Amino acid sequence: MADYLDFVGDPGRDDVEGWLYPTDAHLMSVVNDLQVDRGFRGDVLEIGAYKGKSAILLGFFPEAGESLTVCDIFDSGAPVSDGNARENTAFYPGLLQTDFEKNYLRFHDRLPRVHVGPSEELGEIVAPGSCRLVHIDGGHTYEVARADMETARRALGPAGIVVVDDWSSAHIPGVAMALWERYLTGELIPLAFTKGKFYATWDPAGLTAGEVADAVATRPGIEASGTVRLGRYAAAGVTMTPGDWQRYNAGLRAVYSKLYADGGASAPQRVGF
Ligand SMILES: C[S@@+](CC[C@H](N)C(=O)[O-])C[C@H]1O[C@@H](n2cnc3c(N)ncnc32)[C@H](O)[C@@H]1O
Repeated sequence: MADYLDFVGDPGRDDVEGWLYPTDAHLMSVVNDLQVDRGFRGDVLEIGAYKGKSAILLGFFPEAGESLTVCDIFDSGAPVSDGNARENTAFYPGLLQTDFEKNYLRFHDRLPRVHVGPSEELGEIVAPGSCRLVHIDGGHTYEVARADMETARRALGPAGIVVVDDWSSAHIPGVAMALWERYLTGELIPLAFTKGKFYATWDPAGLTAGEVADAVATRPGIEASGTVRLGRYAAAGVTMTPGDWQRYNAGLRAVYSKLYADGGASAPQRVGF
């Protein structure tokens, strides 16, 4: 896993297309380490795998007896709502399940359990309370994000953590609506957030925001840069350290200037975002 964290943090090496920043790669691994250290057991679920960038990281998380399941519609042509289909056509044209598989197998000996189909089918596939970590990064319409939040709530067991991608992206505000709607029930407890992902739990006896912030402080490359009160709870904003951000940014600039000099066709999703 350490090698993959380095890989994601080095734009000169990272050639897995997708959307995973070093900050979240580290923070997801911090959360996983805390769960393992505290003896919280369960499977790992990802909704929305694309070409495997985050799934590869999650594939390092399961301990003996635990597993990773990923769900994506890939190129299956599975029917989804019009809004969901429009988003998929705009953002993931030409996505092939085989691209995911090839990338994943560069870093792991075997594939995870893969459910090819809309995430709404996961209710039939993932046992209630069986997971300790669910990463939601699938369809970004309000309806899909809302259903995925409910899937996560149902799938998560003791000390389970939900990680919600694109919680504050202006072009897909339905995710924020689904997240805050859940938050306002008073049951969802925020733990941490980055520019890209929101980390929370439904278990008041599980990990705490303070515990996550303390663990972040021991991790090179990221820092808990400020605590924000969100109604009855507080959560830590997590970013890269300034030095790491400068190095990463310089690496990104070097990669992008080369890609654009070569014509730029593959530039937009080449690294990280
Ligand atoms: C933003 S991408 C995932 C990025 C990936 N997690 C990464 O780290 O690069 C969203 C993925 O969700 C998938 N998707 C969209 N709608 C879906 C749905 N209703 N059910 C399952 N997957 C869906 C898309 O095919 C796409 O691969």
